[in-house]
Amino acid sequence: MAQAPRGAETIEPVLVVVPTYNERDNLGPVLDRLHQALPEAHVLVVDDGSPDGTGELADERAAADERVHVLHRTAKAGLGKAYIAGFRWGLSRGYAAFVEMDADGSHAPEDLPRLLAAAEDADLSIGSRYVPGGSTVNWPLRRQLLSRGANLYSRFALGLKVADMTAGYRVYRRPVLEKLELDEVASHGYCFQIDLTRRTADAGFEIVEVPITFTDREIGQSKMSGSIMREAFFRVAEWGAQRRVAQLRRLLGR
Ligand code: GDD
Ligand code: MN
Repeated sequence: MAQAPRGAETIEPVLVVVPTYNERDNLGPVLDRLHQALPEAHVLVVDDGSPDGTGELADERAAADERVHVLHRTAKAGLGKAYIAGFRWGLSRGYAAFVEMDADGSHAPEDLPRLLAAAEDADLSIGSRYVPGGSTVNWPLRRQLLSRGANLYSRFALGLKVADMTAGYRVYRRPVLEKLELDEVASHGYCFQIDLTRRTADAGFEIVEVPITFTDREIGQSKMSGSIMREAFFRVAEWGAQRRVAQLRRLLGR
């Protein structure tokens, strides 16, 4: 399938990658809203063997609708691994744009046309909670502080100007994912979002942020955990140190 050149009116075909772990009650309504908001988009549900039957529901939806596809994985291996597998699946099938979207309704499918329009003049568009017009709804204060803190810490450590580096609602244009060394991405959890942001920026691609409202889920539990937070803290420190050393080497002409 031909890819739309930069600045093209519509970037097509679009693949929305939706990672799932125990989202049986959320997936259906999100798919319905997505088909309504962007009828031509395809969806790939990447399910990590959800014990609640999310994978089986996804299969039923795929059997009834050629736009819906399912990638079953056998064990819960983290958000990052799920997205990498989904990106690889889509790259081998010719999609021009790759959307990251949560399955729990936190990311409004109705915002997707705006994110895609923003990606027409950039390489990565991020649905951002922390640019003017962005917001969070029903999110516990603890999570808001954690998210804000993680973003401030990441911006300082990595020297990047992206306001919402941990955001999980994004549109990557195909050339970005073709160029990034996806094999090197070791992040399992949510620091995957920070990792791909820094790799996209370092590869010279343009990143834009579009304000969105992130509404916390109404059904089920977040998969955020202490180990995910620890991984983010230590990996960002490591990436920050690597950047400082690289900057110093450039300064010393080595
Ligand atoms: N396949 C798979 N495997 N899916 C997963 C896994 C996993 O190990 N862990 C989480 N998911 C899926 C969930 O089922 C959901 O669709 C999506 O990833 C987001 O998971 P949540 O657990 O709802 O994330 P959150 O709401 O706590 O965190 C949100 O904010 C973070 C930072 O602020 C998400 O948008 C994150 O992506 C974001 O980084
Ligand atoms: Mn969530």
